[in-house]
Amino acid sequence: MSFPNVRMRRLRRTEAMRTMLNQIKIQPSNLIYPIFVDETALEHMPITAMPGYYRCPLDQVIYEGQIALEQGIKSVLLFGIPSEKDDNGSGAYAKDGIVQKAASKLKDHFKDELVIMADVCLCEYINHGHCGIIKDGELQNDKTIELLSKTAVSQAAAGVDIVAPSSMMDGQVAAIREALDDEDLEQTSILAYSAKYASSFFGPFREAAASAPSFGNRKSYQMSQGNLKEALREIELDINEGADMVMIKPALAYLDVISLAKSTFDVPIVAYNTSGEYSLVRAASLNGWIDEQAVIHEILTSIKRAGADMIITYHAKNVNAWLNYT
Ligand code: PBG
Ligand code: ZN
Repeated sequence: MSFPNVRMRRLRRTEAMRTMLNQIKIQPSNLIYPIFVDETALEHMPITAMPGYYRCPLDQVIYEGQIALEQGIKSVLLFGIPSEKDDNGSGAYAKDGIVQKAASKLKDHFKDELVIMADVCLCEYINHGHCGIIKDGELQNDKTIELLSKTAVSQAAAGVDIVAPSSMMDGQVAAIREALDDEDLEQTSILAYSAKYASSFFGPFREAAASAPSFGNRKSYQMSQGNLKEALREIELDINEGADMVMIKPALAYLDVISLAKSTFDVPIVAYNTSGEYSLVRAASLNGWIDEQAVIHEILTSIKRAGADMIITYHAKNVNAWLNYT
């Protein structure tokens, strides 16, 4: 038997050839930049578990939007830390809530130049830190989706372009779509956190938002780590309920889920490179153990290669440092 003289290395010979043949290139315009807006902060408040990241006061959101735009990023994702938390998470849907205020400031300033997204959940606003209303020790799914709908409507009215429900309550997308349409907000899009796993990678975020559940865990609403096909059911339901885009979260430990979702559905797929994924890289880097910029580039490339059209990442703060670094 004779073999043709196949040499894979021919096409890897020069930098120009490698660049010409490269298939995945991260574009800043596909990144989403998370912002924590803190109602009581007077200045940037560093987040201990997320070195280099901070909560910002309301009057800094324009500056944050500028950081995003200057790097070619088109969208920000707002999270609010209210001055007070209560049993009903009322800060989430208050007309003058912190996210609503931040959104209207950003919309006034940037108009449609910047896409404004906002997380829709109760955990940052509720005193026990769960993602919904709890009565007699049970999470009340249907009461919660009423409040999530109010939250989405108030955010959209304030200037949010894309609402992103993250509580993993059943029927949340349908309820929000209906509520938005009832208020003539049919142009507001929904990015559904569809396949959100009960993950330990959210730990640093919960420090940032002071939203760790004070008892129990989120396993009765977020997905079990071992389940793959269940993600397809979650995503399909959300698409049928009216989601414009769907999300898989976390990203790095769930690349198989991203890949399967991409090959199964035609809607835009968003991956969330979570707080814990960010902190792992930062910690190793601060210890001098890895080449941080190269590692960020490699991780985000893998998420995109798996099938993500867009990536929410805290590394978006520093795009210019790593974008062309391989
Ligand atoms: C709110 C929400 C969380 C994250 C995004 N939206 C926290 C959680 O579900 O516990 C996590 C983001 C991150 O870790 O970067 N439900
Ligand atoms: Zn939540």
